[in-house]
Amino acid sequence: MPAIKIPLPGFEDLDEIIVSETMIKRRVRRLGAEIAAAFGGEEITVVAIINGALFFAADLLREIRRPVRLDCIRVSSYRNETRAVGKPEIVHSMTIDIANRHVLLIDDILDTGKTLSAVVPLIKKLNPASVKTCVLLDKKGRREVDFDADFVGFQIPDKFVVGYGLDFAERYRNLPCIGVLKPHLQNPPEWR
Ligand code: IMP
Ligand code: MG
Repeated sequence: MPAIKIPLPGFEDLDEIIVSETMIKRRVRRLGAEIAAAFGGEEITVVAIINGALFFAADLLREIRRPVRLDCIRVSSYRNETRAVGKPEIVHSMTIDIANRHVLLIDDILDTGKTLSAVVPLIKKLNPASVKTCVLLDKKGRREVDFDADFVGFQIPDKFVVGYGLDFAERYRNLPCIGVLKPHLQNPPEWR
């Protein structure tokens, strides 16, 4: 993917933008159509992993022109580091029943694969009719556990990115694009 020059003020903490707001909008619209087609006439039970998938799921769901139910789970793994630490833990689980339902699990980014490869079996234990996964971003080069998502927005290089839901220490989620955080900002002790 070609690097895009940073056109806007207020983005000075980014080294480069790798997915622009326009690219996100266009891809999310297509993904919504792909997902609607893949699920056919079935109602989709979406399980979004918050906080990261919040922005992506909110936009994507409005592009899925099918009946949808929504629930969220919270999984912790990053703890203000740019590299995953330890095993992902489910901190807050689902409240709706997913037995015999067609589930679409949504996350912001597939990195080492540890999160989704831990969460999918937990969801399968609840006897859904099917489970599919969708991620906005995929860093294939970083995989430690073999895992592929059914729907992927963009393949990206092995760089720490923020924006459109992705954070560093809970910051930058509200950037409308996805960019690489300047290295010197990836470790400020005052943000812990
Ligand atoms: P995995 O378990 O290593 O696949 O990582 C998945 C989680 O790590 C994501 O849901 C993100 O919260 C976090 N993560 C991985 N890479 C990045 C990144 O480049 N920026 C921000 N968060 C990331
Ligand atoms: Mg995160």
